[in-house]
Amino acid sequence: MPAIVIVGAQWGDEGKGKATDLLGSRVDVVVKFNGGNNAGHTVVIDDQKYALHLLPSGILTPGVVPVIGNGVVVDLGVLFEEIDDLEVRGVDTSRLRVSANAHVIASYNRTLDKVTERFLGSRRIGTTGRGIGPTYADKMNRIGVRIEDLFDTEVLTAKVEGALDVKNQLLAKVYNRRAVAVEEVVEELVSYRDRLAAMVSDTGLLLNQALDRGETVLLEAGQATLLDVDHGTYPFVTSSSATAGGACTGSGIPPTRIDRVVGIVKAYTTRVGEGPFPTELHDDSGEHLRKTGMEYGTTTGRPRRCGWFDAVVARYAARVNGVTDFVVTKLDVLTGLEQVPVCVAYDVDGVRHDEMPMTQAEFARAVPVYEELPGWWEDLSHCRSFDELPKAAQEYVLTLERMCGPRLSVVGVGPGRDHVVVRHDLV
Ligand code: IMP
Repeated sequence: MPAIVIVGAQWGDEGKGKATDLLGSRVDVVVKFNGGNNAGHTVVIDDQKYALHLLPSGILTPGVVPVIGNGVVVDLGVLFEEIDDLEVRGVDTSRLRVSANAHVIASYNRTLDKVTERFLGSRRIGTTGRGIGPTYADKMNRIGVRIEDLFDTEVLTAKVEGALDVKNQLLAKVYNRRAVAVEEVVEELVSYRDRLAAMVSDTGLLLNQALDRGETVLLEAGQATLLDVDHGTYPFVTSSSATAGGACTGSGIPPTRIDRVVGIVKAYTTRVGEGPFPTELHDDSGEHLRKTGMEYGTTTGRPRRCGWFDAVVARYAARVNGVTDFVVTKLDVLTGLEQVPVCVAYDVDGVRHDEMPMTQAEFARAVPVYEELPGWWEDLSHCRSFDELPKAAQEYVLTLERMCGPRLSVVGVGPGRDHVVVRHDLV
């Protein structure tokens, strides 16, 4: 059976957790391959709401092996907080496996994330402040601390010393902060060692062996295509590879073993943090989407910027990721609108662009070209088949499918696990 990748096709918070959960019972292993606790999945099961930031949402499905891959950056304090919270609520987390090669978010990188943002002022990225960027920067600079380093205090101390060499200068001389003691950092990290020991694994080997045995492996992206460090709206992006290519480097599963790529799009668009967003609404319509869609960040609580669906972005995401199926979420949020505008192209300095403009400067000046689609008033939450959707909602889905390319296999009609219309099975 296959390896399936799930990616966000916009700027994040598309509802990937729900799609993962929908596939859950047919999946044996769920892998998080990028990002860290900057993510936020909200999964609702039997009226219980679970907000996960670091753990893969597959942890909620009995029998599934949840894996934190090598491409993830791990805040160990948050990891154990989330595990404890789930255990108290009766969720078994004992199957969780964490890559020995994953990097650790040390306290100094959380500090640096926040002070750097403050220092940038109007040029800030609007990060989640969780230390994600500085930790990935350390990885690339080859001064990062990996999970495996925690099991050799000498190695760990040398690595922390190496990292703090320059960072303490930065903290003290540039940012006017106190320098951090090596021992303090080592002591904190070592304190997690015993609990961590049971879950540390060679996850690349484990995942390939699972595929050899014919198991189904689901690779779940954090963040989304337009936040990808290469393919997103750089520099207003996260620091990891959030697209399908990142699923391979972040897990150790080769491209030749990936069978399906499921792209998640919201029926409209949201974004948190700074950066260009052509269909953003600054009027009552934006406020309506935010209120109706409850568009407030799971991780930071920030109100999300809201706008209409952007088919240029979705087509781009389909291309970059090789999307085989789209899942459109939150169609119910659009209920009650006379007309629903959809962005079909951009106008950049008087020139029409049907594809994503080549440069970020052009993208920042993109003015949406809208097509107005008829709205609907009926409650969608009871619909379980495509035929049960009101005609205008069906037309909205079919139009999005025509505009975006790949088939639109699943439609979300409410927050619950079963609030879906499945047009084509994903596995
Ligand atoms: P960072 O990932 O904390 O470095 O933040 C970089 C950018 O990505 C900021 O605009 C964040 O708001 C955004 N971001 C990070 N994680 C998520 C997510 O899970 N959903 C939506 N936006 C995110």
